[in-house]
Amino acid sequence: NPRMLQFKLVLLGESAVGKSSLVLRFVKDQFDDYRESTIGAAFLTQTVSLDPQTTVKFEIWDTAGQERYKSLAPMYYRNANCAVVVYDITQPSSLDKAKAWIRELQRQADPNIIIALAGNKADLASTRRAIPTEEAEKYAAEENLLFLETSAKNSLNVSELFTMIARKLPLE
Ligand code: GTP
Ligand code: MG
Repeated sequence: NPRMLQFKLVLLGESAVGKSSLVLRFVKDQFDDYRESTIGAAFLTQTVSLDPQTTVKFEIWDTAGQERYKSLAPMYYRNANCAVVVYDITQPSSLDKAKAWIRELQRQADPNIIIALAGNKADLASTRRAIPTEEAEKYAAEENLLFLETSAKNSLNVSELFTMIARKLPLE
């Protein structure tokens, strides 16, 4: 029998790493070169079909990365089944920030939460990369996180990221 399973997903990460852009690519298959910084948080939904019988519906909370909104984050990750923590491969500070979010999730979120680390703006890898893939990959393996480099701009690994998460969710 066909089934639709719903899961709550939260995006976290420093401002301007491309959280909203990843969601816009995933939900509407669009990209804006000039996106407004998110205020508070935005809510969107999208489905992923895993097989003819199984559809996963993501209820997505796209949080605001600016420091002034930091205290709101627990409201969005508290009941989350999964989290995408995003950094920008051209900005070393954004990986430090991502690691801080991951530590916070490991301490405060549901112990079964599935966490994915996404190194976004991979389209800039050849000219502006500041974080080697291997460095983030090693950290992700140590912390038991899913990991992909993505580009909201050219679509690299965006649907793959959400599908990878969907496959890790408890589907029974
Ligand atoms: P806050 O809402 O402030 O937390 O930022 P955000 O993480 O949602 O970033 P947003 O999606 O608004 O993107 C910030 C800027 O980066 C925008 O100018 C985007 O066009 C750009 N951007 C986002 N993703 C990519 C990408 O994959 N490649 C490139 N080259 N630019 C990107
Ligand atoms: Mg945003």
